[in-house]
Amino acid sequence: MTPDFAPDSAAALPVWAVWKGDPLADQAGPWPKASGFSAKPGEICLLPDASGGLAGAFLGLGDRAVASRHRFLMAHAAALPQGIWRPVLPQGLDPDESALGLLLGQYRFARYKGAAHDGGTQFLCPEGADAARIRAQAAGEFLTRDLINTPANDMGPDALEAAARALAQEVGATIAVTTGPDLLDANLPMIHAVGRAAEQAPRLIDLRLGDGGPRLTVVGKGVCFDTGGLDLKPAASMALMKKDMGGAATALGLLRMLALTGAADRMRIRVLLPVVENSVSASSFRPGDVLTSRKGLTVEVNNTDAEGRLILADALALGAEEQPDLMISLATLTGAARVALGPDLPPFYCDDDATAGALSRAAMAVRDPLWRMPLWDGYESQIEPPIADLDNAPSGGMAGSVTAALFLRRFAHGAGRYVHMDIYGWQPVLAPGRPKGGVGQGARAILAALPEILPAAAS
Ligand code: BES
Ligand code: MN
Ligand code: ZN
Repeated sequence: MTPDFAPDSAAALPVWAVWKGDPLADQAGPWPKASGFSAKPGEICLLPDASGGLAGAFLGLGDRAVASRHRFLMAHAAALPQGIWRPVLPQGLDPDESALGLLLGQYRFARYKGAAHDGGTQFLCPEGADAARIRAQAAGEFLTRDLINTPANDMGPDALEAAARALAQEVGATIAVTTGPDLLDANLPMIHAVGRAAEQAPRLIDLRLGDGGPRLTVVGKGVCFDTGGLDLKPAASMALMKKDMGGAATALGLLRMLALTGAADRMRIRVLLPVVENSVSASSFRPGDVLTSRKGLTVEVNNTDAEGRLILADALALGAEEQPDLMISLATLTGAARVALGPDLPPFYCDDDATAGALSRAAMAVRDPLWRMPLWDGYESQIEPPIADLDNAPSGGMAGSVTAALFLRRFAHGAGRYVHMDIYGWQPVLAPGRPKGGVGQGARAILAALPEILPAAAS
């Protein structure tokens, strides 16, 4: 499903978005009040014309004073009757946020419930919004959601590779994939170790797009299912682990956004996806194993459930070798990040204050919030075990998202700057434009921050 705005049409009916308490447009007459319309968020009041047909609608936005708690309120318009609608925005509602809300509100995960797919409600792009740029963001986000929502029986490493190949073809990217034992020849031993127990072979997917300008390398965690390995997760913790490829899904969504906005024409993008299933079999890697990474650093496996940092480490080391200007990892890496900041506000880590500041500001501006947390040098000793260079799961687990980020940083040296995002990739409860299920985090923030964090790539 490709999100889009309807072409301009004389037949489009107006939908006035209104804050609670604001006076309604004169043409409404007494009907809205008589029918009890009070502009609660998402409340719809259909307006009849003189002959009993449909003339337009009001859409409630709720209390203006608490609007900052909610994002993408215009997504509620998806509940309007089938037809083409022309949104009319009130003061204080950002056109771009509204436009994106309208498209995000149309997202359905229809793969296993095709018949229930409604659709048929379309919108003109609100005045003042950048239609092409918004469309690109929604298209990237829809891809990310579809990939996360598809369960592991249909989104194993083979299917994730197929999705990457399809996107490569769509945007004109090159793609190279290293699979199974070839990972050992290619010196990507930790990706192999984590993924070798599964039926579908582990692999590294390497996409490239653009041939001039600054280099941006994005590394996405692609654990198609995380059982925890021999350190098996309990049922409640395993339930959602189809989403453990959310970093890879978000990286692919970002690639689509960069391509569709034209940003890819001014930079060299590389997307590296270590893709595995963290599974259980006789060939599983074990607690206590010491792995030698691509970089040569040895890693003691103190928990097979801390698999993400192992596969990312080899991919980051590979990415850093060509010294990109900026390298970013996106990963559903730790439960600790959720304890710290909850599902909606992913922490990110970056040593460069200017880059971090630009990302924070862009993230808030485009409603793709991120919160900076520290790469606290004082905790480095926690990831240094007695018998190897690094420990993948420090005992005690305090500051678990921070120590995971410190672990990754050891492998990212060589990149000009490094950003790590510990995302959740999941919307736990229905919100406007965000049905319960897979959700991209960080991609739109990166896109919005590009002019500052990769200046030569800006238009
Ligand atoms: N994929 C999980 C992290 C995760 C869990 C993200 C729940 C979002 C929600 C990751 O592979 C993991 O299991 N991490 C462990 C690390 C620990 C063993 C050091 C964790 O966070 O418990
Ligand atoms: Mn795990
Ligand atoms: Zn995981």
